[in-house]
Amino acid sequence: MAQEVRGVIAPGKDEPVRIETVVVPDPGPGEAVVRIQACGVCHTDLHYKQGGISDDFPFLLGHEAAGVVESVGDGVTDVGPGDFVILNWRAVCGTCRACLRGRPWYCFDTHNAKQKMTLASTGQELSPALGIGAFAEKTLVAAGQCTKVDPAVSAQVAGLLGCGVMAGIGAAINTGDVGRGDSVAVIGCGGVGDAAIAGSRLAGAAKIIAVDIDDRKLETARSMGATHTVNSRESDPVEAIRDLTGGFGADVVIEAVGRPETYRQAFYARDLAGTVVLVGVPTPEMKLELPLLDVFGRGGSLKSSWYGDCLPSRDFPMLIDLHLQGRLDLAAFVTETIQLDEVEKAFERMHRGDVLRSVVVL
Ligand code: APR
Ligand code: ZN
Ligand code: ZN
Repeated sequence: MAQEVRGVIAPGKDEPVRIETVVVPDPGPGEAVVRIQACGVCHTDLHYKQGGISDDFPFLLGHEAAGVVESVGDGVTDVGPGDFVILNWRAVCGTCRACLRGRPWYCFDTHNAKQKMTLASTGQELSPALGIGAFAEKTLVAAGQCTKVDPAVSAQVAGLLGCGVMAGIGAAINTGDVGRGDSVAVIGCGGVGDAAIAGSRLAGAAKIIAVDIDDRKLETARSMGATHTVNSRESDPVEAIRDLTGGFGADVVIEAVGRPETYRQAFYARDLAGTVVLVGVPTPEMKLELPLLDVFGRGGSLKSSWYGDCLPSRDFPMLIDLHLQGRLDLAAFVTETIQLDEVEKAFERMHRGDVLRSVVVL
C-alpha cells in the first residue's frame, strides 16, 4: 500500500519551500522505502530551490540522510527491513567502463528508483533532490543507495556522510591521497573545507593550513585540526602558504570555495609536483587564465573530486567506526538540529554563513 508522509517541497523557481503530503509507493524490484531519521541541509538543496540545477519542479528536497529501511522490493538482498543506513546519490551499475575500472563514482548508468513519489494534492510527480528526497518522513530509493552502518551512531551524525562531509573528507583521503607527514592547505573553511581538514588530520598530515576570509571560520577550522590559519583578506594566501612550508608550497592544496581567484591560489600554493584537489563547484560562466608554462612547468597533478571519490560501501562504515572510536569528531559538524518546517529558515542561516550544518531530525 502506498503511504502518505510529510515532505519539504520546492514548488517552483525561487519560491519558498513548503510542507506537503507526499505519496510514497511500495518498493518495486530493486527499491527500498526508508524511514528517515535525520537529514542535513546542504547548499545543493538551496540550488535546487533556486532552479540552478534543473527545471524539473516540484522537487522533494533533502539528500544528506540516514534512517531505517522499512521495506524492500523483489530481488533486494544487501539490505532489509530494520537496517540502519546512510543514503547515497547513486546506485551504480557495476558493469560500465567506469565501474569496471574501479571508479564507480563516474558510473555512466546509475539505477536510482524507477517509481515516482507524487504530491497527494495534485498527483504531480516529484523530482527527489539528488535522487533521494529525504526531507520527508519516508522516501523511496534504490536499494543500492543504502549503505548499512553501525546503528550505535546517532542518525544526525550518520546522515552527514551522505554529502558535504564525505565530499570534504574524501577530497583529502581519497582524491588528494594525503599521507602521514604531508603539508596540506585548505582554501575555504565551510562544512566541506572543515571536513577536508578533519580528513587531513585523520590521514596524519603534519601541517594543515586553513585559509578563509572570515576569522570565525578560521577559529572553527582550528578546532577541526588546522595547525595554521591565514585570513586571505589580510595577507596573500599563496605567499603565506609558501612561508609556512619552507618556501615550497603545500604537498596537497584543497580548494573548497569554487571561485576563479581561489582556483588560482590553489594552483600556485602547491609544491612543485604537489597535488591540487578541486572540490568547490564553480558556476558555468567562470573562467581562469593561466600561463601554459606554469601549467606545464609546475608538474604534479590537478584533480577534481566528485563526492570525495567515495565508495559508500567502503567509506561510510569505516568513517562511522572511526567516529564511534573517538578518532573523528563528526558531531562537531552539526551546528543545530531543526524540524521539517524550519528548512526555509535554515537556508537563510546557511546563506549568512552562520552554520556548518543544520540537521532536520524526524
Ligand atoms: N577565499 C577564501 N575563502 C572564501 C572565499 C575566498 N575568496 N570566499 C568564500 N570563502 C569561504 C567562506 O567564508 C566559507 O567559509 O569559503 C567557505 C565556503 O563555505 P560554505 O559556503 O559553507 O560552503 P561549503 O558547504 O563548505 O561548500 C564549499 O564545495 O561542494 C562545494 O558546492 C560546494 O562550492 C561549494 C564548496
Ligand atoms: Zn557503472
Ligand atoms: Zn549536498
